[in-house]
Amino acid sequence: MKLLDALQWRYAVKKMNGTKIPAEKLNHIIEATRLAPSAFGLTPYSIIVVEDEETRKKLQPAFYNQSQIVDGSAVIVFAAWNNVTEKEVAEYMQDIAEQRGVAVDSLNEFAGYINGSLKNLSADQARIWADKQAYIALGFGLVAAASEQIDATPMEGFVPTAVDEVLGLQALGLHSTVALTLGYRDAANDYLVNAKKVRRDHKKLVINK
Ligand SMILES: Cc1cc2nc3c(=O)[nH]c(=O)nc-3n(C[C@H](O)[C@H](O)[C@H](O)COP(=O)(O)O)c2cc1C
Repeated sequence: MKLLDALQWRYAVKKMNGTKIPAEKLNHIIEATRLAPSAFGLTPYSIIVVEDEETRKKLQPAFYNQSQIVDGSAVIVFAAWNNVTEKEVAEYMQDIAEQRGVAVDSLNEFAGYINGSLKNLSADQARIWADKQAYIALGFGLVAAASEQIDATPMEGFVPTAVDEVLGLQALGLHSTVALTLGYRDAANDYLVNAKKVRRDHKKLVINK
């Protein structure tokens, strides 16, 4: 399926049918999120993949009882870092050194540049900055799911502290930012299955200068 056809095909599914998605498709979608870009390449978030039914049942109240949490096949929670410090930047430099086969010392200037930029942010600004990066991964996941003909619902309709509690995110230095539920549409029971896609008109949305 061509990309634009896949994006027309997808919609934010309200009712899923409980069918499991094949492991290779789930892995493909996760890999696409892993390939998402982030500012500096720092990737200030983790991707929590919840397939376990019991855990999804525990999560459902935190998602205002949205049915996709249990009727889907997996819930991916994008959980951003609570703090972005020089320690995480140093770990990233190690990753670059290993993956590109360069000396870590050759990256000192780059590390200094990142640390200098991050120092200008308050703790709240740094948290919001990390959240924004996680949303890019959400976008990649949505597109990858559509290209694999896997249904998906992006979700920020949840109580973050409750999700963090169920998944033990605080202890990991993370907080839930946004989620993506994957599964298959229940075409007979989803009121949106045949709804026309509504988007702002090209002329209103796109401003040519
Ligand atoms: C960041 C974000 C959060 C959303 N949260 C929810 C949600 O909690 N529950 C839900 O059913 N849909 C949610 N949606 C789906 C949107 O309502 C939907 O994407 C939008 O109406 C456009 O429709 P479409 O995705 O079906 O084309 C969310 C979408 C985004 C991008």
